[in-house]
Amino acid sequence: PVDDRVEDLLARMTLDDKIGQMTQVDRGALEDQSDLAAYRIGSVLSGGGSAPTPNTPQAWAEMYDSFQRAALSTPLGIPLIYGVDAVHGHNNVRGATVFPHNIGLGATRDPELVERIGRATAEEVAGTGIDWTFAPCLCVARDDRWGRTYESYGEKPELPGAMTTLIDGLQGPSLDAPGSILATAKHYLGDGGTTGGVDQGNTELSEAELREIHLPPFRAAVERGVGSVMVSYSSWNGVRMHGHRHLITDVLKGELGFTGFVVSDWAGVDQLDGREGFTAAEVRDAVNAGIDMVMVPYDYRRFTELLRGEVRAGRIPMERVDDANRRILAKKFELGLFENPYTDRSYTATIGSDAHRRLAREAVRKSQVLLKNSGGVLPLDKSAKVFVAGKNADDIGHQSGGWTITWQGGSGDITPGTTVVEGMRSLASDPSRVTYDRYGDGVDGSYDVAVAVVGETPYAEMEGDRRGSMGLDREDLATLERLRASGVPVVVVLVSGRPLDIAERLDGWDALLAAWLPGTEGAGVADVLYGDHAPTGKLPMTWMRSVSQQPVNDGDGKTPLFPFGHGLTYSADHRTADRRTGSFRAEVTVHGNVPAPSEGRRAAPVPADGPETGSVRSGTPRPSAPAAR
Ligand code: IFM
Repeated sequence: PVDDRVEDLLARMTLDDKIGQMTQVDRGALEDQSDLAAYRIGSVLSGGGSAPTPNTPQAWAEMYDSFQRAALSTPLGIPLIYGVDAVHGHNNVRGATVFPHNIGLGATRDPELVERIGRATAEEVAGTGIDWTFAPCLCVARDDRWGRTYESYGEKPELPGAMTTLIDGLQGPSLDAPGSILATAKHYLGDGGTTGGVDQGNTELSEAELREIHLPPFRAAVERGVGSVMVSYSSWNGVRMHGHRHLITDVLKGELGFTGFVVSDWAGVDQLDGREGFTAAEVRDAVNAGIDMVMVPYDYRRFTELLRGEVRAGRIPMERVDDANRRILAKKFELGLFENPYTDRSYTATIGSDAHRRLAREAVRKSQVLLKNSGGVLPLDKSAKVFVAGKNADDIGHQSGGWTITWQGGSGDITPGTTVVEGMRSLASDPSRVTYDRYGDGVDGSYDVAVAVVGETPYAEMEGDRRGSMGLDREDLATLERLRASGVPVVVVLVSGRPLDIAERLDGWDALLAAWLPGTEGAGVADVLYGDHAPTGKLPMTWMRSVSQQPVNDGDGKTPLFPFGHGLTYSADHRTADRRTGSFRAEVTVHGNVPAPSEGRRAAPVPADGPETGSVRSGTPRPSAPAAR
């Protein structure tokens, strides 16, 4: 049994071996690869963008295997565990399948789909040797000004709670089953509740509110047997989470019964006292609070010295160090790393496979939320003459968002995929029926309809907070103006990581489809635009009427532009209505300033799937959740 193997190994480990297991180094920050063995480093990660050259699956697998060889060359031969931010697919690897970001998956209300995405992601990650992903992000995003809002499945705890099925997909039937990897529930606790939506800010709530809003998804993750939990950079009522013994040790490990290991965020321990660089007090406070593995102590040599000094001086009890090691080693044994330390190349071919891309396309179409459809302008007729414009219409980087190939994401062909306009051309009766110009130059009244694919450009943590305007940028506004001036109906497809401030513009648009950040399979957006699949998505966030309403959440008494759960679909007479929407309701509900449907050409707006009840179908029950130790 794992416990016996852990005890046997622990009894043979020196203090330095144990300190090494508690240290996680970024591959890019490793001063010298020989340090891996010299410092008995237990874990390596590739933080956003820390990819091998060339960025191919084969190069990843070779890199992983070479790190693993170094770890196994130590006297005790303890394999390392390698982590990566595979947060919407194996998004660091060129050619991998990139799924919609979590906000879009929240709109699907489909935990079973999310479980399948977890499985596909795990296979692609395993195909590069990697054992561990820092996902799912279970933040409950309460203020859309926060730059990580798109990493949230929704503003209510039920949504991230239901989507913990991702863990089942990632971790598989058992951790040592082929193609399974370790999951991480992050960021514990209250990351999405900071005042003003400030990244790494302060969450000012009573303990009762914190437990009610932010704790439930973590409870669900622990019940599903999540292997690790990452601590949040944020503070709770002024106390940094990285030193919060009550919440980490008493609540997470005690009350919730979490038996996996707790990892810090990147340099999160260095920042404990608000200054850069390590002090002995920071190391002591973090480890004694219950952090088991420290991610990126930049100066890992100094970190190991400080940790050793604190243990020798008795300020960090040896039992705490042993407990951290037991937790980490147990996962390494459960993953089968001692038996199979190297890349299982049989999974390499799954990276970006047709089957996974089909799954991603399914996820994209199910994540689309139709917010307005005046006069039934959607779905588009396949033979219609369509003018497409906008900076997000033909750009894989833009439609994938942050955490794609690099930390902050990028623009252009950063990885293979299908853009929205390419998807539209593939569905139109003839590709020549779709004309594209990014800026809308050349549009005129000869077109049947204009489609503007506009919105945000990529950003990730620390860069994405929006304090002032959350409206469209000047380029988008100018593009929209050109389309509008042509006099043809304008359909807006909004590519964004959160609700944007669009209320004042909405009257000028005939239809509005929230596409979120769909990832590499833009054809899923086209599926909905052309009506091959009717929209079924529902808002996972309340949509503000103006930025001054932030934070705006369901049940807070404000009158938003669109309520939580809102989403329209095509009318019952539409020939290709998605079966999932089943019996369309006869009556039409009008929300916000969506005009009542006129005598629609084909489709009138009706709610996507009956009224939102807040309940979400649960995924497949986990067959073998590890028993609590
Ligand atoms: O996993 C991430 C986390 O979400 C934010 N900081 C960096 C970590 C590792 O890249």
